[in-house]
Amino acid sequence: MIAYNALSFTIHTLTQKQMNQNFSDQWQKLKRLANDESIKDLQGLFSNDTNRVKMFSHEYKDIYVDFSKNWINQDVLNHLLALAKHANLDKKIQALFSGAKINVSENKPATHTAQRKIPLSESMQHDRDKMFEVAKNYASGKWKSAFNNKIKTVVNIGIGGSYLGPKVAIQALTDLQINSHVQVLYFASVDDVRLLSILKSIDIKSTLFCLSSKSLGTIETLKNTESLLTVLNGTKGYNPKGTNHSFVAATANCEKAISLGIPESHIMPFDTATGGRFSVWSAIGFPLLMAIGEVRFLEFLSGAETMDQHFEKTGFDKNIPILMAMVSIWYRNFMHLSAYAVIPYDANLKHLPAWLQQLMMESNGKMHDVNGEQLTISTSPWLFGDHGQLSQHAFFQAFHQGKDVLPIDFIGVIGEHTDAKNYLLINMMSQAAALMNGSDDTHDEFNCPGNRPSTTLLLNKLTASSLGQLLALYEHMIFVQSVIWNINCFDQPGVELGKKIAREIVEHIQDDTLKDVRLDPSTQQLLERALKHD
Ligand code: F6P
Repeated sequence: MIAYNALSFTIHTLTQKQMNQNFSDQWQKLKRLANDESIKDLQGLFSNDTNRVKMFSHEYKDIYVDFSKNWINQDVLNHLLALAKHANLDKKIQALFSGAKINVSENKPATHTAQRKIPLSESMQHDRDKMFEVAKNYASGKWKSAFNNKIKTVVNIGIGGSYLGPKVAIQALTDLQINSHVQVLYFASVDDVRLLSILKSIDIKSTLFCLSSKSLGTIETLKNTESLLTVLNGTKGYNPKGTNHSFVAATANCEKAISLGIPESHIMPFDTATGGRFSVWSAIGFPLLMAIGEVRFLEFLSGAETMDQHFEKTGFDKNIPILMAMVSIWYRNFMHLSAYAVIPYDANLKHLPAWLQQLMMESNGKMHDVNGEQLTISTSPWLFGDHGQLSQHAFFQAFHQGKDVLPIDFIGVIGEHTDAKNYLLINMMSQAAALMNGSDDTHDEFNCPGNRPSTTLLLNKLTASSLGQLLALYEHMIFVQSVIWNINCFDQPGVELGKKIAREIVEHIQDDTLKDVRLDPSTQQLLERALKHD
C-alpha cells in the first residue's frame, strides 16, 4: 500500500510539474504574441476578416456579448484558452460547484452557487424558508414594528457585500424604487449626519431596520446599530415584544445577533462559507426580497443559476465568463494595462460598477498565491465606472485622447424602445465606435487616435432573471481570473490590518491611553490635530 501511495504521489507530482511547465510555456507563447503591434490595429483586424463580428460575438439567454472590438484575433484567443486549460480550469470549476474547500486560507468551500442551486441543500433550504417567512410576516402586516405599525420602509444597516449586492439589485429592479413594495434605504458608513438625514426622511415607527452583517464584527455596522437603538429607545411608544420588532438580522453569527437583543425568530442565518461580496443570493438579499417580492426574488436566483449551468457545462471557446476573464488577462498580463472600466448605459445599473469594484478588487487584489508565495505577475486591475451618459461628461475625454489605454465593458439594455432608451444606446455604441475608429479628419489637430478596445454587453431586457445572469457572469469571471493567477479570490486578509489599527486607536482613546499606541509620526500628528478640541 505504501509503495502504491508513493507511486501515485510521484505521478501526481510529475503531472503537476508537467502542468506547471505547460502553463509557463503557454505564458511565454502569449508574451511573444503580445509583441505583435498589429493586434492593436482594430480597423485592420476588421478589414482582414468580414466574419469578425460573428466570430467574436456570443449569446446566452438574455445576454449578448460582442468581443470584436478587442485587441484579439483567433490565434491569440486560442492561446488564451490553452492557458486556461493548462491552469486546470476545468477541474477548478468542478471543485467550485462540488463544494470542495477552494477557499484554502479559511479552509472552506465557496457556496454562493449553492445558494441558488436547484434543489437547495437542507440547511440552505431552511435558511431560505426562514428569510421568506420573516419577509412574508412583515409584508403582510402579521408582524409589525416595535411601535405596532405595518412596515413601509426598510433601512439596511450593512457595508461592503452586506449592502452593495442588494443596492445594485434594488436599483435595477424597482425602476428607481418606483415599483418597490417598500422603500429601501441604506445606512452603511458611520457618518452621523447620514443617519440624521435618513431619520428625517422616514417614519421611524413604520420602519424595519435590517442588520446585515455576515460576521457582526464590522465596527461601522455595530456602531450604526448602537446609534439606531439609542434613537429607538428614546422614541415614545417603542415597545419591542412578541413579534413586534423594528430590528431583524441577516448574519452567519446568530449568537452575536441574539446578544444584541434580536430574538431568534427575527434572525435570518446564512452559510458562513458564502463570501460577503458573493452573498446577495442569501439572507443578505432580504431588503431585495422585501422590495421585489418572492416571485421575482426566485427569478433573480434562477437567472444566476442558469448562468451557473452555462459556466459549468459550456466549452471554453463559447463560455462567456471564461472569455470575459481571458480577455481581461490578455490586457492585464500581456498588454500591461492596469485599469479596467465598466460603463453601464442605464440608470437602473448605475450601482453595478461599485458592486463590481468590491467583487473584483477585494477578490483579486492579491500579491501572494494560494501557497503564500509572492507573485511575480500582476493581478486585479484598478476597476472603476459610472453611468455612461454621466461619464461622457466626466472622464471620457481621457478614454479618447489620454496617453494611457484601458479596456472598457459597455453594458446596455435594449428593453422598451423609448426615445430616451434609444438615445442612450446610440450614445453607447457611438462612444465605442469612436474609441475604435478614432477621428478620420486628418485636418483635426486634436484627432482621436482610435484603436481603443472595448467589449459590449447587451441585455435583451432588464428583469430579475437577466440581472441574476449578469451578476453571476461577473462572479464567474472573477473566479476564472483567480485560477489563472493561482490566488484565493474568496478571502480578504488585507482589509483586516486597517480595521485592527482603527480598533486599537479607538480602544486607546476610550481609556485615554492614546500616547501608548505606537504610530508613525504622520499618523500621530494627524490624529492629534483631528482630535484636538479648541
Ligand atoms: O471589506 C471587508 C469585509 O469583510 C467585506 O468582505 C464584507 O463584505 C464587509 O467587510 C462587511 O462584512 P460583514 O458582512 O461581516 O459586516
